[in-house]
Amino acid sequence: MSLPNQKPDLEDSINVTEAHGRVVREAAACAREKRIAENGSEPISLWLIVACGLVVATAGGVLGSVGSGLSYGTMFREGYVRTPPPGGGEEGPKPKEALAAYSAKGAKIYSAKCNGCHGSDAKGDGANFPSLVGSKWVLGETERFAMVILNGLQGPTSSGKTYGAGVMPAQGAGLTPEDLAGIMTYVRNNFGNAKGDVITAEMAKAAMEASDKRAKAGQPVTGTELDADHLKNLPGEPLDPKQLVDPISLAPVTAAKP
Ligand code: HEC
Repeated sequence: MSLPNQKPDLEDSINVTEAHGRVVREAAACAREKRIAENGSEPISLWLIVACGLVVATAGGVLGSVGSGLSYGTMFREGYVRTPPPGGGEEGPKPKEALAAYSAKGAKIYSAKCNGCHGSDAKGDGANFPSLVGSKWVLGETERFAMVILNGLQGPTSSGKTYGAGVMPAQGAGLTPEDLAGIMTYVRNNFGNAKGDVITAEMAKAAMEASDKRAKAGQPVTGTELDADHLKNLPGEPLDPKQLVDPISLAPVTAAKP
């Protein structure tokens, strides 16, 4: 028996292929949107990827070709050396006479530690800060001078006068023996003071030891204590003011370098 009237159960108006394609496209679009919503990132345009690739490739090419010329050997002229420090060669800075070298070190520390009160001319101000020019505690026995710097001073001062609040705060914190020797040498030989001698690092070290042994360690010295315990010169070999020394370590050197 034949079934001549049987047709597929579809309306003629529906294009199956097209309808199917639309379903697939819509499903894909939905899936894509869901994915974007889930991970929060937009799909990147293919053009952007291509453009980035081009930038990287170009930069790589440029740097690569320059890079091969950037080696240490080709960047520096043959025989080129770093500029030597002023006055020095490979063996370090040029030696200086002891008085000048110690004073140079002292000048830096004076401007950092003393200048603010005693002034750039060391004359003080007559009311709050005494002058260090012509002071017998500066120019006299060296242990007395060192004790004032290391521990500070509770007035009266060498002149019998008390200045300002009557106390100088201790200045010893952070000083090396070379620093202390430098300040003492500088103040004794500048601003109109002219002792002509060098307070050596060895002497300054002895001062620090004496300071640590004070009965009243940590408190400022007084004129009474200075007279009783520190009226002496610091022990140590005297140093010829013209002796050549290394300007940094202050250690004596044998001969001047050219
Ligand atoms: C904060 C201020 C101040 C600083 C910083 C200071 N001094 Fe003084 N100094 C004084 C005062 C104030 C006196 C006097 C104290 C008094 O009258 O009791 C004095 C007194 C002295 C005296 C005694 C002078 C004399 O003839 O009796 C010497 C020496 C001295 N200072 C040296 C120094 C040196 C060196 C430095 C730097 C390392 C220094 N001072 C830093 C305030 C200061």
